[in-house]
Amino acid sequence: MARNGKTGIGIIGFGGIAQGAHMGNYLKQTDTCEVIAIADVAEERRAQAKDKFAVEHILEDYHKLLAMPEIDAVSVCTPNGWHKQITIDALRAGKHVLCEKPMAMNSGECLEMISASKETGNKLQIGYNMRFSPGAQSLKRAIDQGMMGDIYHASAKAMRRRGVPTWGVFIDKEKNGGGPLIDIGVHITDMTLWLMGHPKPVTVSGRADAFIARRGDVVGMWGQWDPKKYTVEDFATAMIRFEDGRTMHLMSSFVANIDREHFDTQLYGTGAGAFFDANAGQYTMYREEFGTLTDTTAGWLPKVESTHGEEIKMFIKAVQNDLTIEEVGAATGEQALMVTQIIDGIFRSSEEGREVTIG
Ligand SMILES: NC(=O)c1ccc[n+]([C@@H]2O[C@H](COP(=O)([O-])OP(=O)(O)OC[C@H]3O[C@@H](n4cnc5c(N)ncnc54)[C@H](O)[C@@H]3O)[C@@H](O)[C@H]2O)c1
Repeated sequence: MARNGKTGIGIIGFGGIAQGAHMGNYLKQTDTCEVIAIADVAEERRAQAKDKFAVEHILEDYHKLLAMPEIDAVSVCTPNGWHKQITIDALRAGKHVLCEKPMAMNSGECLEMISASKETGNKLQIGYNMRFSPGAQSLKRAIDQGMMGDIYHASAKAMRRRGVPTWGVFIDKEKNGGGPLIDIGVHITDMTLWLMGHPKPVTVSGRADAFIARRGDVVGMWGQWDPKKYTVEDFATAMIRFEDGRTMHLMSSFVANIDREHFDTQLYGTGAGAFFDANAGQYTMYREEFGTLTDTTAGWLPKVESTHGEEIKMFIKAVQNDLTIEEVGAATGEQALMVTQIIDGIFRSSEEGREVTIG
């Protein structure tokens, strides 16, 4: 425990998401936690940490951070390829872990992380933050109160027209594990599974491939990438079946010739349908009422500063009150594993050209 009864925090990997979402949100909670150390392998990131924030320890080697007894909990904000090892090392060093999404490179790695959390009794939360949007929370309450009847199908999209990340390792299959599916498709998949009540995925039929991004003449809205280094898919589509017979369709892209970005999920229920727009944080529910067809949207939604802020508040709440990650409503390792099983299944199905069994 850090000084004055506060939760001592360490941040491992101090790039975009650590600086943009984790650090600032921990700093908003100085009554409950204190960031004691940051570790990053890159000199430039350590220099940024030193210039911008008054943190006592800025380290190159994350093992040194994990050896500090005053650190109770860590954010793992490194590229995907490092999530598993750092999370397991942190759990074994007695720390609770908030690991960024996707949970890991594949389901095997996720299972190892879950085992380490169980063995050590330390908490493991995964950074699926979208579910904390007030619109998503409101829709979930409506579903839990039975407003939609049985949700028998969902159609989820995380589609960018031209949105290839040109920093980090996002276009490198070996280091990132995949492209749009593992980067943004996972967010909308987590959201959809959560809204559906986490049915167990059992089969997947999908295709993931690079159709456009390996050409040298493609417009880059976020800068230009090297098409020769583009080893991930640029588009993926899949049909997922759950153990209880329900179905889900998923599409994800970094590049596609479409009108605009789509980040949404459409739920088909026997009592109502709903369309949740993750970018707008709003939903519309479609029903039959009074002999008419009605469309309902929230006229007012509770305010939260940010979904990342809520995710971090929930992590600290779980640690300080010894609640489970499920009890605070955040993404558990087991829930995030289901997302990764679906992604693994899509890649395998695409390679084999047929439906595959997962889980
Ligand atoms: N939840 C979200 O909305 C969201 C948004 C963006 C990124 N992310 C996730 O966050 C993670 C990081 O993404 P980013 O955009 O911040 O990438 P980034 O490349 O900007 O930052 C990653 C940092 O990790 C450091 N690093 C690499 N290996 C390390 C190691 N072994 N020890 C310590 N530091 C190490 C790098 O030097 C770099 O500074 C990814 O897994 C990504 O999927 C989540």
